[in-house]
Formats: sequence, structure tokens, C-alpha cells
Amino acid sequence: MSKKVFVTHQLPGERIHDLAQLCDLNVWMGPGLLPASELAAELADCQGLVCLLTDRVDRQLLQACDQLEFVSSMSVGVDHVDVDALSERGIPLGNTPGVLVETTADTAFALLLAAARRVAEADNFVRQGSWRPENAWAPDFFTGKDVYGATLGIIGLGEIGQAVARRAAGFGMEVLAWTRSGRSVDGVESVSLEELLLRSDFVSVHCALTADTRNLLDADRIATMKPGAVLVNTARGGIVDERALAAALVSGDLYAAGIDVFEREPVPEDNPLLHLPNVILTPHIGSATTFTRAQMADIAVENAIAALKGRPMPHCVNP
Ligand code: DGY
Repeated sequence: MSKKVFVTHQLPGERIHDLAQLCDLNVWMGPGLLPASELAAELADCQGLVCLLTDRVDRQLLQACDQLEFVSSMSVGVDHVDVDALSERGIPLGNTPGVLVETTADTAFALLLAAARRVAEADNFVRQGSWRPENAWAPDFFTGKDVYGATLGIIGLGEIGQAVARRAAGFGMEVLAWTRSGRSVDGVESVSLEELLLRSDFVSVHCALTADTRNLLDADRIATMKPGAVLVNTARGGIVDERALAAALVSGDLYAAGIDVFEREPVPEDNPLLHLPNVILTPHIGSATTFTRAQMADIAVENAIAALKGRPMPHCVNP
């Protein structure tokens, strides 16, 4: 009898058709995201799960899924999954590293530039009809902060951090990095986190969200950032204390921020960042190009196909 696999969203890419040939496939057709309360019921008699970063795969869910043999997430980050709970049961977890590196680095740089040069604020200004003769070009009109020649601090020098460093080199930036692995990369000065925060005009976050990095940029660390610095986060919301960040942006201690990821997503209306003009906000679109998302989906399905065939997943976080 063929195994049952549940996919929590319709996926782009080509490999999903191959998966359908190999198993009894059930895909959530929406609309929108699968409600968390329905995942356990859908998974009850399944051997495989292909999920998104929006699906919480925790111990409680796993208790309700005693037939589960593999999980494959269409994401590189796996903070939505209790990896230890899976490993204890010998269930492999697949992810999709590599293919989203350059795309996510582009997003980080887009936010950096937009925050520095007030692009969202200026766009709003024009759209709202505020650009009038009495409020037009002047020496201090929409002045921002220079990126060229500034210092960029990269937190987490994995593949995405390194891709951001390459972009920064093209902008003549001095690049500092702090990374737990102690990895060193040409053209990037390795420093302590304290030194990075003190010296950087721009700080871009590229580490994974783990127990060690949750709230890494808390109120105390944000207070040590260089006055007038810009913070960019395309990694995970839980790494930055959003309330402390908002307070620093209101007081003017920080100049601006570019934020793609939030502690809670979709972001609730009471998030203080939503109401600040000096923050550019995007809805977790770091890897959102058509090409990259298709590649991510194909890798997630490839992991599932390997598991169905009893082979090691090509990208497994708990081998
Ligand atoms: C991931 O894959 O973890 C990214 O956050 C998606 O953009």
C-alpha cells in the first residue's frame, strides 16, 4: 500500500508531480494557510509531511502523529520545527539551503538601501500628493544616510551573510562580521559582537534563530549600537527585541530599520514598528522570487522523495 504524504500548501516547481506518482498525496488547497488546529487531523494517518515555515511542528503535534516517518520543510530555517522531538523518534527533517542565498542577500541589501535613503517614506510622499511647490526639492529635502563607504556589520557569516558581504564590497563598504563558528572570509574583519555593534553604521542579521540567538539584539545590545545606525533583519524576528528596536528608532538613537521578519507573523497591528516612518517593512519576502521559490519547492519535494524511497534526504538537518 502506498504511503500517505500531506503537503500543507500547493507548491511551485516540477518535482511535486513526481511525488504524486510515488505516494498517496494530499495537498491543502487553501484558501490561505492551513489552520494550525487542522494539521494534526490531516496528519493523523500520514507517513510524510511537506510543510512551510508557517506550520508549527511541535512535540504536541508529533504525539498525535504516530505513523510519521519524515518531515520536509520548504525553508532553510527550521525554528518552526522541534528538531529534538523529531530526532528522538528517528524522523529525518529536510530543509532547502543554498538556493535562496543570493535572493535573500538581495532582499537584505534592498532593505538596507531603502532604509538609508528613505525610499518607502519618499514613495508615500509622492503618492499622497504631498510633493507640491511649497514642499519640494530643497537642500535638506528627503536627505538620508550614505551607504557607499560606510561600515556594515554582519551578524552570522553563513552563506547569506557572505553573499551580503560581497554586495557590500561593491558599495565600497568596510565589512565586519561576528559569527559563532569563528569563520573568516576574505575582505571581512571578524570582530566580537560588542565591537560590531559599536562600529557599524549598518547592521544586518543573518544568523539562524536558536535558543542561543533568541533576543540576541535585546534592549541592552541595541543601546550599544553606534548612534544613528541602521538595522536590517531578514533572518528571523525572534532575534531582535522589536519593542526595544522601536524605542531606539523613536528616540533617534537609531536612524532607521529594514525589517522583513517578525516575532509574530503575520505581524499583529499592535506591533510598534508598524507605526514608525523610519522603518521599511516587508512581509517575510527574503526568498520571494518565482525562480527561487520553485527551486526551494523542488528541493523540499526531493527530500520527501528520498525519504519515501528509504534513502537519506539530500538536505537533512538531523542526519
Ligand atoms: C527560510 O527559508 O527560512 C526563509 O526564511 C524563507 O524566506
